Amino acid sequence: MSRNEGRDRSAVSVIGLGQMGTRLAQAFLAAGYRTTVWNRTPAKADALAAQGADRASTVGEAVSAGPLVVVCLPDYDTVHDLLEPEGERLRGRVLANLSSGTPEAARRMAGQVTGHGAAYLDGAAMSGTRLVGHPDALFVFSGSPDAFATQQDVLASLGRSVHLGDDPALASLYDTALFGLAWGALAGFYHAVALVGAGGVDPTAFAAVAMSHMPFVTSLMADHARHIQDGRYPNDDGTVDVHAAAMDHLVHASRAEGIGAEVPELIKSLLERAAGTGHGEDGIASVVELITKGRRDVRAG
Ligand SMILES: NC(=O)c1ccc[n+]([C@@H]2O[C@H](COP(=O)([O-])OP(=O)(O)OC[C@H]3O[C@@H](n4cnc5c(N)ncnc54)[C@H](OP(=O)(O)O)[C@@H]3O)[C@@H](O)[C@H]2O)c1
Repeated sequence: MSRNEGRDRSAVSVIGLGQMGTRLAQAFLAAGYRTTVWNRTPAKADALAAQGADRASTVGEAVSAGPLVVVCLPDYDTVHDLLEPEGERLRGRVLANLSSGTPEAARRMAGQVTGHGAAYLDGAAMSGTRLVGHPDALFVFSGSPDAFATQQDVLASLGRSVHLGDDPALASLYDTALFGLAWGALAGFYHAVALVGAGGVDPTAFAAVAMSHMPFVTSLMADHARHIQDGRYPNDDGTVDVHAAAMDHLVHASRAEGIGAEVPELIKSLLERAAGTGHGEDGIASVVELITKGRRDVRAG
């Protein structure tokens, strides 16, 4: 007997079986939930059907199969085009949308979905496809708290599923912010690999040491978040001036090795501009004021 047998209706339907949707469906199956799948190109459901998924022949059939509909398509317009004709079938169900988009699109979709009498959860997969189904995979959701509470156990099959609040735009806001955070860290990593590589260091050997440096870096986030909240920037982790000088060394070292210096130049520029606005003796979290000021300037302009 497959793990899916013995349950009389689908716990979850997955619409869109691209790279991400396939991993989502696999995670639900692995957690023992009866899973119905639909994809525009039906052949992409073959492997999942072999793993125990029920195959829906239409979008409507997938929507009707159970209480939770998970959709993972390229963008919100595609989701809208596919699901709008199924509005009546959505009534009373929970739609969890894991397609990427903007906060505005999330709010718009929440209005459309709730207008059909369904509950809406906007979501974002924050750990690529490789960790889906693993406890370390982070999924963020926002929108109906009741819907999240009802479906929390099923959504926990995907990894660490976190509800951010009832504003459906929050998941998308976190998604974009965390994407930028990851890229900031990765840009620093790629630069560092190039620098040590110029000195003959193997990237994997460097990565092993770099990873052991990360707990220190993440510990700064918690402390600096408090500083930002208080609007006071203790300089226990070094002043803006000290960090600007150190970043200048990194720029020079990079140039001396003949590698690109764009990444440290960007950070040096931020630090120097922060110093120029009177934060030279403050802690480095004060750089946030410079960035936030950009927002005020845009609003004022
Ligand atoms: N892949 C990742 O690592 C990752 C990570 C985080 C978030 N995401 C987000 O997840 C979403 C899906 O990404 P993916 O990587 O799974 O994309 P993908 O591999 O390119 O798959 C796209 C899926 O959308 C379907 N599709 C495209 N246009 C359609 C249409 N007009 N009507 C019906 N179905 C349509 C495709 O169906 P066919 O098979 O018929 O083409 C396929 O199932 C995106 O919003 C992406 O940003 C992906």
